[in-house]
Amino acid sequence: MELEKLFLKRQSTREYCEKPVSDDELREICRLAVLAPSAVNSQPYKLYAVNGEKAREFSKFVQVLGGNKWAAACPSFIVIEEGKPGIVERAGQRFLKTEFVPIDIGILSAYIVLAAENMGLQTCIIGLRDEKAIAAFLGAKENTKYPLVIAVGYAPEGYPVREKKRNPLDETFTLVK
Ligand SMILES: Cc1cc2nc3c(=O)[nH]c(=O)nc-3n(C[C@H](O)[C@H](O)[C@H](O)COP(=O)(O)O)c2cc1C
Repeated sequence: MELEKLFLKRQSTREYCEKPVSDDELREICRLAVLAPSAVNSQPYKLYAVNGEKAREFSKFVQVLGGNKWAAACPSFIVIEEGKPGIVERAGQRFLKTEFVPIDIGILSAYIVLAAENMGLQTCIIGLRDEKAIAAFLGAKENTKYPLVIAVGYAPEGYPVREKKRNPLDETFTLVK
Protein backbone atom coordinates (compact mmCIF):
# COMPACT_ATOMS: atom_id res chain seq x y z
CA MET A 1 0.00 0.00 0.00
CA GLU A 2 1.23 3.50 -0.68
CA LEU A 3 2.75 4.93 2.51
CA GLU A 4 0.46 7.94 3.02
CA LYS A 5 -2.64 5.81 2.38
CA LEU A 6 -1.38 3.31 4.94
CA PHE A 7 -0.80 6.06 7.52
CA LEU A 8 -4.29 7.48 6.94
CA LYS A 9 -6.00 4.09 7.03
CA ARG A 10 -4.25 2.87 10.18
CA GLN A 11 -6.35 3.85 13.14
CA SER A 12 -7.20 2.56 16.58
CA THR A 13 -9.93 0.05 15.83
CA ARG A 14 -12.27 -0.66 18.73
CA GLU A 15 -14.70 -3.04 17.08
CA TYR A 16 -13.84 -6.40 15.58
CA CYS A 17 -15.80 -8.94 13.57
CA GLU A 18 -15.71 -12.67 14.22
CA LYS A 19 -13.29 -13.44 11.40
CA PRO A 20 -10.31 -15.11 13.04
CA VAL A 21 -6.71 -14.05 12.53
CA SER A 22 -4.46 -16.96 11.57
CA ASP A 23 -1.36 -17.92 13.54
CA ASP A 24 0.64 -17.36 10.34
CA GLU A 25 -0.68 -13.79 9.99
CA LEU A 26 0.36 -12.99 13.56
CA ARG A 27 3.79 -14.50 12.96
CA GLU A 28 4.18 -12.50 9.73
CA ILE A 29 3.28 -9.21 11.47
CA CYS A 30 5.93 -9.93 14.09
CA ARG A 31 8.49 -11.01 11.48
CA LEU A 32 8.09 -7.63 9.78
CA ALA A 33 7.90 -5.63 13.00
CA VAL A 34 11.25 -6.85 14.31
CA LEU A 35 12.85 -5.11 11.34
CA ALA A 36 12.35 -1.97 13.47
CA PRO A 37 15.43 -0.06 14.55
CA SER A 38 16.50 -0.06 18.21
CA ALA A 39 19.30 1.57 20.17
CA VAL A 40 22.55 -0.17 19.13
CA ASN A 41 20.28 -2.88 17.68
CA SER A 42 19.62 -4.10 21.22
CA GLN A 43 16.02 -5.26 20.42
CA PRO A 44 15.08 -5.19 24.10
CA TYR A 45 11.79 -7.05 23.78
CA LYS A 46 10.00 -10.32 23.16
CA LEU A 47 6.71 -10.74 21.36
CA TYR A 48 3.88 -13.10 22.23
CA ALA A 49 0.92 -13.65 19.92
CA VAL A 50 -2.22 -14.70 21.79
CA ASN A 51 -4.83 -16.25 19.55
CA GLY A 52 -7.99 -18.37 19.58
CA GLU A 53 -9.57 -19.34 22.90
CA LYS A 54 -6.56 -17.98 24.79
CA ALA A 55 -7.32 -14.51 23.38
CA ARG A 56 -10.78 -14.57 25.01
CA GLU A 57 -9.12 -15.27 28.35
CA PHE A 58 -6.39 -12.70 27.71
CA SER A 59 -8.82 -9.92 26.81
CA LYS A 60 -9.74 -9.54 30.51
CA PHE A 61 -6.23 -8.29 31.26
CA VAL A 62 -6.71 -5.21 29.09
CA GLN A 63 -10.21 -4.44 30.33
CA VAL A 64 -9.11 -2.61 33.44
CA LEU A 65 -10.32 0.52 35.26
CA GLY A 66 -13.57 0.24 33.32
CA GLY A 67 -11.82 0.74 29.98
CA ASN A 68 -11.25 -1.22 26.78
CA LYS A 69 -14.50 -3.20 27.00
CA TRP A 70 -14.42 -3.53 23.22
CA ALA A 71 -11.39 -5.83 23.65
CA ALA A 72 -13.71 -8.68 24.70
CA ALA A 73 -14.55 -9.22 21.02
CA CYS A 74 -11.00 -8.93 19.73
CA PRO A 75 -9.79 -12.24 18.26
CA SER A 76 -6.06 -11.83 18.95
CA PHE A 77 -3.41 -9.81 20.71
CA ILE A 78 0.30 -9.20 20.35
CA VAL A 79 1.97 -8.67 23.70
CA ILE A 80 5.27 -6.82 24.01
CA GLU A 81 7.47 -8.00 26.84
CA GLU A 82 10.16 -5.55 27.94
CA GLY A 83 13.67 -6.99 27.95
CA LYS A 84 16.32 -6.35 30.53
CA PRO A 85 18.33 -3.21 29.81
CA GLY A 86 21.65 -4.11 28.17
CA ILE A 87 24.90 -2.25 28.60
CA VAL A 88 23.81 0.46 26.16
CA GLU A 89 20.50 1.10 27.88
CA ARG A 90 22.21 1.18 31.26
CA ALA A 91 24.82 3.63 29.95
CA GLY A 92 22.07 5.70 28.34
CA GLN A 93 20.19 5.85 31.60
CA ARG A 94 23.26 6.70 33.62
CA PHE A 95 25.12 9.18 31.41
CA LEU A 96 22.47 10.54 29.08
CA LYS A 97 19.48 10.29 31.43
CA THR A 98 17.61 8.65 28.57
CA GLU A 99 15.56 5.47 28.74
CA PHE A 100 16.07 3.83 25.36
CA VAL A 101 14.00 0.71 26.04
CA PRO A 102 10.59 2.45 25.99
CA ILE A 103 11.67 4.35 22.88
CA ASP A 104 12.59 1.08 21.15
CA ILE A 105 9.26 -0.44 22.20
CA GLY A 106 7.34 2.56 20.87
CA ILE A 107 9.03 2.21 17.49
CA LEU A 108 8.36 -1.54 17.49
CA SER A 109 4.65 -1.00 18.17
CA ALA A 110 4.44 1.47 15.27
CA TYR A 111 5.95 -1.19 13.02
CA ILE A 112 3.46 -3.78 14.31
CA VAL A 113 0.37 -1.68 13.60
CA LEU A 114 1.58 -0.58 10.18
CA ALA A 115 2.63 -4.09 9.14
CA ALA A 116 -0.78 -5.40 10.22
CA GLU A 117 -2.68 -2.64 8.40
CA ASN A 118 -0.69 -3.32 5.25
CA MET A 119 -1.84 -6.95 5.48
CA GLY A 120 -5.49 -5.81 5.72
CA LEU A 121 -5.75 -6.26 9.49
CA GLN A 122 -6.78 -3.63 12.01
CA THR A 123 -5.19 -2.90 15.37
CA CYS A 124 -5.32 -0.85 18.53
CA ILE A 125 -2.32 -0.11 20.73
CA ILE A 126 -3.31 -0.72 24.36
CA GLY A 127 -1.57 0.86 27.30
CA LEU A 128 -4.32 0.20 29.82
CA ARG A 129 -3.45 -3.30 31.04
CA ASP A 130 -2.85 -5.47 34.09
CA GLU A 131 0.83 -6.37 33.85
CA LYS A 132 0.79 -8.75 36.81
CA ALA A 133 -2.09 -10.74 35.34
CA ILE A 134 -0.33 -10.86 31.96
CA ALA A 135 2.88 -12.11 33.61
CA ALA A 136 0.93 -14.87 35.40
CA PHE A 137 -0.88 -15.77 32.16
CA LEU A 138 2.42 -16.10 30.28
CA GLY A 139 4.10 -17.93 33.14
CA ALA A 140 6.66 -15.17 33.66
CA LYS A 141 8.06 -13.63 36.83
CA GLU A 142 5.62 -11.31 38.59
CA ASN A 143 7.68 -8.17 37.95
CA THR A 144 8.08 -8.75 34.20
CA LYS A 145 7.05 -5.64 32.27
CA TYR A 146 4.50 -5.62 29.45
CA PRO A 147 4.37 -1.94 28.44
CA LEU A 148 2.07 -2.39 25.47
CA VAL A 149 -0.41 -4.86 24.03
CA ILE A 150 -1.67 -4.62 20.45
CA ALA A 151 -5.20 -5.76 19.63
CA VAL A 152 -5.31 -7.37 16.17
CA GLY A 153 -8.34 -8.37 14.13
CA TYR A 154 -10.64 -7.47 11.29
CA ALA A 155 -12.92 -4.46 11.58
CA PRO A 156 -16.55 -5.19 10.71
CA GLU A 157 -17.79 -4.33 7.22
CA GLY A 158 -18.47 -0.57 7.01
CA TYR A 159 -16.37 0.39 10.06
CA PRO A 160 -15.53 4.00 9.20
CA VAL A 161 -12.03 5.24 8.62
CA ARG A 162 -12.03 8.34 10.81
CA GLU A 163 -10.48 11.60 9.77
CA LYS A 164 -7.20 12.07 11.63
CA LYS A 165 -7.31 14.65 14.40
CA ARG A 166 -3.82 16.03 14.77
CA ASN A 167 -2.40 19.32 15.97
CA PRO A 168 -1.75 21.79 13.15
CA LEU A 169 1.65 20.98 11.64
CA ASP A 170 2.98 24.44 12.47
CA GLU A 171 2.51 23.70 16.18
CA THR A 172 4.60 20.56 15.87
CA PHE A 173 7.05 21.29 13.11
CA THR A 174 9.74 23.95 12.81
CA LEU A 175 12.16 24.17 9.94
CA VAL A 176 15.61 25.29 11.02
CA LYS A 177 17.99 26.34 8.30
C1 LIG B 1 1.02 4.23 24.11
C2 LIG B 1 -0.43 4.18 23.68
C3 LIG B 1 -1.39 3.65 24.54
C4 LIG B 1 -2.73 3.56 24.14
N1 LIG B 1 -3.64 2.95 24.96
C5 LIG B 1 -4.91 2.77 24.52
C6 LIG B 1 -5.84 2.02 25.30
O1 LIG B 1 -5.55 1.48 26.35
N2 LIG B 1 -7.11 1.90 24.80
C7 LIG B 1 -7.49 2.44 23.61
O2 LIG B 1 -8.65 2.28 23.22
N3 LIG B 1 -6.62 3.17 22.85
C8 LIG B 1 -5.34 3.32 23.27
N4 LIG B 1 -4.44 4.00 22.48
C9 LIG B 1 -4.85 4.55 21.18
C10 LIG B 1 -4.87 6.08 21.15
O3 LIG B 1 -5.98 6.56 21.87
C11 LIG B 1 -4.89 6.53 19.68
O4 LIG B 1 -3.73 6.11 19.03
C12 LIG B 1 -5.03 8.05 19.50
O5 LIG B 1 -6.23 8.52 20.04
C13 LIG B 1 -4.97 8.46 18.02
O6 LIG B 1 -6.00 7.82 17.28
P1 LIG B 1 -5.69 6.83 16.07
O7 LIG B 1 -4.80 5.71 16.59
O8 LIG B 1 -7.04 6.28 15.67
O9 LIG B 1 -5.02 7.59 14.99
C14 LIG B 1 -3.11 4.07 22.86
C15 LIG B 1 -2.13 4.59 22.00
C16 LIG B 1 -0.81 4.63 22.38
C17 LIG B 1 0.22 5.13 21.39
